Amino acid sequence: MRGNVIVGQSGGPTSVINSSLVGVYQNAINRGAGTVYGMLHGIKGLLDGQYVDLSEHIKNDLDIDLLKRTPSSFLGSCRYKLPEICDDKEVYEKIFKILNDLNIEAFFYIGGNDSMDTIKKLSDYAILVNSTIKFMGVPKTIDNDLAITDHTPGYGSAAKYIASVTKEIIRDGLVYDYPTISIIEIMGRNAGWLTAAAALAKGEDCEGVDLIYLPEVAFDIDKFMVKVKELSAKKSSIVIAISEGIKVADGRYVFELADHVEFTDAFGHKQLSGSAKFLANKLGAELGVKTRAIELSTLQRCAAHLTSRVDITEAFQVGGAAVKAAFEGETGKVIVLDRVSDDPYICTTSSHNVHKIANIEKKVPLEWIIDDGTNVSEDLIHYIRPLIQAELSPVMVNGLPRHLRVDLKDSL
Ligand code: F6P
Repeated sequence: MRGNVIVGQSGGPTSVINSSLVGVYQNAINRGAGTVYGMLHGIKGLLDGQYVDLSEHIKNDLDIDLLKRTPSSFLGSCRYKLPEICDDKEVYEKIFKILNDLNIEAFFYIGGNDSMDTIKKLSDYAILVNSTIKFMGVPKTIDNDLAITDHTPGYGSAAKYIASVTKEIIRDGLVYDYPTISIIEIMGRNAGWLTAAAALAKGEDCEGVDLIYLPEVAFDIDKFMVKVKELSAKKSSIVIAISEGIKVADGRYVFELADHVEFTDAFGHKQLSGSAKFLANKLGAELGVKTRAIELSTLQRCAAHLTSRVDITEAFQVGGAAVKAAFEGETGKVIVLDRVSDDPYICTTSSHNVHKIANIEKKVPLEWIIDDGTNVSEDLIHYIRPLIQAELSPVMVNGLPRHLRVDLKDSL
């Protein structure tokens, strides 16, 4: 391929999403692409004419090393839903004009199941107008809720962070001679993969969390209160992991039972926040004990100082695999990870039709949720464990991790 390529990042960031960007960039250059452009703020920014020549921002090997270790989306992100092709062709005409003017031959989008909707629609439109531009999806999401792939880049590092801080919170909870209850609220929307990672805290040096609640099972507040009361009669420090997306039987999120601020994005996702606070307040009021609500929030997806080396390596690989596939003529596909074995852990990549992946949420199988919905099985722990292995140290400057950044107001 002698033409140019363009790459964008979309949806919520991860601590390794820039490793995929490096994977796309380096592989495209090595395979003879001309200019590698980066869209600023994904497809939304591209529509506004915002893009950069990546070679002006990634100048040497040190920049590559720093970028791999830089959290958040280097190019900025968006949560933007393209209209259905039949509803608004103009937006597609505009995008394809920008791509044709830039002599783009391949388009890469690093994102989760919502972002893959963009690849689906653009590749469908390309067929309609006989365009030869190749459209490839590069998977990422801390939520691990993408269909077909064994797991998603970004998940392993977030899981490693969650398990690590959960261990630390459990230790901290044991210091006083009076009872405390800590509730850790973990991201993941309607899939419990991330919350399940709290179970990894348990080991020789840690007693583990007391209860784990995933969104796959309806949350029963009365049963929860009874369980915690029983536990508090037996032990003084209680640590509970809950998903931000736990819902009561009538379909309301737990945080919606309290006063909250409603924010919904372009894909109809509500901002999920406040369930731990609601439950901690309820427990504090009814049991008269000290409670803490610990919302891991942004921390779990930007902790680049504690990434999993397995994860950062796979993030790079899926970027490279997407370029290889596009340069070999594939389009309308997403790269997925195929686990070959657990021990030794071996994973390869393949490509799959984006129509089978876009907009689909993969949940935790119910057989991996045990003890009446308050814990997860050994099989689930076994599935996660290889993904959190090994580390990649940050480049430390003046006592702090060094990052690579681009001025997101930049455009050509
Ligand atoms: O999709 C990834 C994710 O981090 C979810 O776990 C979380 O619910 C959501 O993004 C938060 O999105 P935002 O940063 O746009 O509020």
